[in-house]
Amino acid sequence: METTAGPEQALTEKVLKAYSNIENPRLKFIVSVLIKHLHACVKEMQVTDDEWEFAWDFMERMAAMTGPERNEFLLFADVIGVSQLIETLNHEKPGQPVGFALVGPFLRANDPFRERGASIASDDTTGTRVRISGRVFDFETNTPIEGAILDTWQAATNGFYENQDPNQPDYNLRGRFRTDENGNFEIVALKPTAYPVPTDGPVGELLRAARRPPDRPAHIHFIVSAPGYETLVTQIFVNGDPIIEDDAVFTASRNMVGDFEKEGDHFRLTYDFPLKRGVSIMPKAPIAA
Ligand SMILES: [Fe+2]
Repeated sequence: METTAGPEQALTEKVLKAYSNIENPRLKFIVSVLIKHLHACVKEMQVTDDEWEFAWDFMERMAAMTGPERNEFLLFADVIGVSQLIETLNHEKPGQPVGFALVGPFLRANDPFRERGASIASDDTTGTRVRISGRVFDFETNTPIEGAILDTWQAATNGFYENQDPNQPDYNLRGRFRTDENGNFEIVALKPTAYPVPTDGPVGELLRAARRPPDRPAHIHFIVSAPGYETLVTQIFVNGDPIIEDDAVFTASRNMVGDFEKEGDHFRLTYDFPLKRGVSIMPKAPIAA
């Protein structure tokens, strides 16, 4: 059907004109692109009344599952690849040694600072430990960065983050660490396990409709920051994990894998974080303190 002229096009132009007086140029640009593409989307889909009712009901149900503990909208953006697209667009450069990953819905504000070599897992947390050590340094000059902060979090072996699981102590499997004068750090964590994203909400309906597995390959989250450097938001995956190619949120990739080596009853992992000069900005935590 030809839809370039006619009442639909006139309506789109009228709406665009109605928002043409926004003063902030960036906001004006964003609103006009949003209107243009949403109108084009509705026209291409030929959205029916029933479908529109389904759409706003779907959003209402996403809102009902969103609060301080969980954000269904962010999860939706994650499973349709938008969150990772934004990371890639803003941070990925050719030849980058460590990839940027989406923050995901489980970062919690104000996780505790822990001593070098401390464990983020409480003593009664089941699971094999991994001792992670490495260096944070300037990507261009290779000089160590002292006092860089590594913010790390992961799911327990039952697949739940501490905020989803009443049986875990507060802030279990979360912690912040500082690098020493040589840029070195040492952390004890759990060898990560795969887990599904929450599927009890509208996002789960979408995944089931698409017959997509909800699983995320095993990973540990890291945000590495230091004044004067671009904040590195990343995840470490397990080299050889077959689910890496089918990550439910399209994040896992080859420049984010670590070699977990067995050492007695635990694993060892050496992993370095090179930082690029830039502006140090911390992402907002989707989960309140
Ligand atoms: Fe995660």
